[in-house]
Amino acid sequence: MVKKTSTALSHPNIAFIKYWGNRDAVQRIPSNGSISMNLEQLWTKTTVSTDAWLQKDQLRINGKMAHALAAERVSLFLEKIRNMVHSDAFFSVESTNNFPISAGIASSASAFSALAAAVLDLLGISVSEQQLSAFARLGSGSACRSIPTGFCEWKPGHNHSDSYAYSIASPDQWPLWDCIAVVADNPKKISSSHGHALAGTSPFQQARVEDAPRRLEICRNAIANQDFLQLAEIIESDSDMMHAVMMTSNPPIKYWLPASLEIMQLVRHWRESGTEAAYTLDAGPNIHVICTSSSRGVIEEKLRYHPNIKQVLSASVGSGTSILPLE
Ligand code: PMV
Repeated sequence: MVKKTSTALSHPNIAFIKYWGNRDAVQRIPSNGSISMNLEQLWTKTTVSTDAWLQKDQLRINGKMAHALAAERVSLFLEKIRNMVHSDAFFSVESTNNFPISAGIASSASAFSALAAAVLDLLGISVSEQQLSAFARLGSGSACRSIPTGFCEWKPGHNHSDSYAYSIASPDQWPLWDCIAVVADNPKKISSSHGHALAGTSPFQQARVEDAPRRLEICRNAIANQDFLQLAEIIESDSDMMHAVMMTSNPPIKYWLPASLEIMQLVRHWRESGTEAAYTLDAGPNIHVICTSSSRGVIEEKLRYHPNIKQVLSASVGSGTSILPLE
């Protein structure tokens, strides 16, 4: 081991074609492929250090000791990495975010991608981007898509090493924005890990998974051709399909709030009136309004003055995970 500390910076991502349900829950091998966009202005910065006296892993999030569940999840992930790289070191992890965590803004994606990058760097293990993406996936599936840059596709694969994400277009391919309308910023009650496990209980999940190659193809083409209308229709349909599965799982999961539905309807109305905007929602009530750079100003203005929206966070297409120089 060469370094005593390592810091990585990573961005969350918003899925255009969603990952929901696993074929293998332990390895997080997904039931279907997915496509996302990294979010540049939102970030998680994670510093990992190690010392011979550490008897177990330690986790601090935003300056406070993490609660037991989060600490246990991180420790389980670190244990998987220790086993894979044959290390017996314990780690002290300090993670900071500049956006609300656990509220459907994919904080686990930026958290586990940053953590995977920082731990491997600290241990002096050099891996390819593909291998790093696969490692990040073990912590949170969507984290594998925060490793490469820009617009990323996660190829589901069949085992640990062939389930990873790669960039399908760089950030400058299409200067899209995600204006996130935060209608609730408290942590969600049902974690996505729990939700993935319930996906198979919905009679709609099989149809959603079987239709995924069609949606992925349309989404890839829309990005390649900068075809906003095509993108808008496919991402809204994909988001609605995932939420239909969630709502019809046993037990059902209802992430939408009345305000979520209200904003979704408004977004469709704005698009019909000529503003390039489309909605998508992850495992939470907050609405991600995807728009072009020319419609961003007007969208932000409309969202900011809406009485049911607490906060608007805006992000352009982001870069991948990076290791920061030592301070
Ligand atoms: O990576 P997880 O286990 O937090 O699951 C993410 C699931 C969604 O955000 C709802 C969809 C996605 O593809 O990011």
